[in-house]
Amino acid sequence: MLKDTNCGELRREHDGRTVTLAGWVHRRRDHGGLIFIDLRDTTGLVQCVIDPSRGDAYAVADQARAEWVLQIEGQVALRPPETVNPRLVTGEVEVRVARAQVLNDAKIPPFHITDAGEEVEELLRLRYRYLDLRRDSLHDTIRLRHRIVKFMRDFLCERDFIEVETPILIKSTPEGARDYIVPSRLQPGYFYALPQSPQILKQLLMVAGFERYFQIARCFRDEDTRADRQPEFSQLDIEMSFVRREDVMALVEDLYTAIARECAPGKRLLASPFPRLTYQEAMERYGSDRPDLRFGLELRDVTDVVAQSEFGVFRSAVAAGGRVKALVAPGCAGYSRSQVDELTRVAQSGGAKGLATLAVSAEGVRSPVAKFLSDAEVRGIVEHSQAKHGDLVLLVADRPEVVAKALGGLRVWLGERLDLADSQVLAFCWIYEFPLLEWREEERRWDATHNPFSGFYAEDEPLLESDPGKVRALQYDLVCNGSELGGGSIRNHRREMQERLFGLMGYSPDDARQRFGALLDALEHGAPPHGGIATGIERLLMVLRGTDNIRDVVAFPKTQSGGDPMLGSPAPVDERQLRDLHLRVVE
Ligand code: AMO
Ligand code: AMP
Repeated sequence: MLKDTNCGELRREHDGRTVTLAGWVHRRRDHGGLIFIDLRDTTGLVQCVIDPSRGDAYAVADQARAEWVLQIEGQVALRPPETVNPRLVTGEVEVRVARAQVLNDAKIPPFHITDAGEEVEELLRLRYRYLDLRRDSLHDTIRLRHRIVKFMRDFLCERDFIEVETPILIKSTPEGARDYIVPSRLQPGYFYALPQSPQILKQLLMVAGFERYFQIARCFRDEDTRADRQPEFSQLDIEMSFVRREDVMALVEDLYTAIARECAPGKRLLASPFPRLTYQEAMERYGSDRPDLRFGLELRDVTDVVAQSEFGVFRSAVAAGGRVKALVAPGCAGYSRSQVDELTRVAQSGGAKGLATLAVSAEGVRSPVAKFLSDAEVRGIVEHSQAKHGDLVLLVADRPEVVAKALGGLRVWLGERLDLADSQVLAFCWIYEFPLLEWREEERRWDATHNPFSGFYAEDEPLLESDPGKVRALQYDLVCNGSELGGGSIRNHRREMQERLFGLMGYSPDDARQRFGALLDALEHGAPPHGGIATGIERLLMVLRGTDNIRDVVAFPKTQSGGDPMLGSPAPVDERQLRDLHLRVVE
């Protein structure tokens, strides 16, 4: 190799050793005589010192600039005590350079390659992603990603799972997004769809008798990019035969507990076993089906207290079947008018029509809506919400789902604003007993809340036709620190039941056959009871690295508009390619 030692590995005990290093000029300082170069490679950096008496080496050091690639030969020496750098693991030593050679020069980088808080436009970073990736923090993340994926593979292999690759050119597997489609050259007018997940294929592997499958699967979803979504991403995809919900959950819980222990040793699990909340309970207490359990701030119901209130907003919401709930902002009684306005905007962005507030203090309760409320109502609200002196009670009246969304959003917002969540804590939990179906008003049909293959509680079968919204799915979601890490279910393994559900979702038998024929057919060929889960790799990394930007955990991410500024994709194609594909672009 062009080097025999790694920069980041040099320590005190290497004093006197002759080494050959190769790496990048991280920093160069010319002290008008001595030149210092911090040489960086994948393991870290070490200070190299070049003395003017080393003619050729000095000429190289003199000429070298940031990000040039050098080979350096020299002797490790202890630094004089006053120059030891305690912030650097190699800070006790330096390399006294005897020979240096330029392996490649480099243009002046478009931005400084450092983690120190320099603001660089993200588009520029993405355009030169290979330079941005040189930063320590990104290196650490990409390495952590590697370690986690390897850990997952090892863990599952030890438990008799096998990894099976499934095709990328397939037919639509719906997970609620638009498909990316690929035109067929050999069959004009026909298209493949890229998998939104390997869902159907993994179920077919169960019919094929593999029993324990996993895959680190690439998934493609054409949906609006958000802070926690990329158009292509990776799942740990798992499917098992002859299992119940408990079996899948126990396996995943063991896996994620072990990952936390092995790959995130600085972090602490809030609770083990992971708490389990029904969907209903999560919505009632936290206003979200992915609650951040690192802090309390639970929603409290005050409907009964204000049902007969003079205050029309409350009374009419309750009369219309709605609810009034409270969230306590601790220590916020002194919030100014503009701070309360900000809270109101947050509530409104969650769908609330308004926000009523009550400031509780030793002197009593101050509130813009006090004049509409009786003393008993005010007391009841304070009591039910468990507000203390100094707290601000936030109230929303509306339909239950609007109240949940608005106060759930406020809860998360306050958690951040008041810094209530310990970044060193991992608060995993399971959410289960989701409704199987939800009503889509625009399309006037029922649709699966998750994917359409989930089974449901046997005792709810009579409700399928009479009250579909009440049927509980055998679905479970893994949540951590307010992020949905994964979801899965026990599936329908009988054709008749799966067809019945498709019917409820508004697919005609023909439609269902046309879209899901392979799966429906397979269910008639001895499909075993089966179930599984898929968890997002990026989501886990985001939680472990404490970032809310998914691009921080992907080597080559896409922008908001789904582009890659480095490769310049998407891009137009040649007229000839279009002709081969029997396509024409219409303006
Ligand atoms: P689901 O659609 O819930 O389930 O996806 C599972 C997990 O994948 C991650 N995820 C994403 N990560 C980044 N960018 C995205 N656009 C994105 N979309 C989803 C999330 C999510 O929890 N086939 C079913 C699983 C099953 O039932 O076995 C499925 O794909 O972490
Ligand atoms: P309004 O009668 O619309 O002027 O509202 C009077 C007060 O009630 C204002 O402080 C509003 O922010 C608040 N408010 C309005 N609608 C709601 C609602 N749905 N829930 C809670 N408070 C509300």
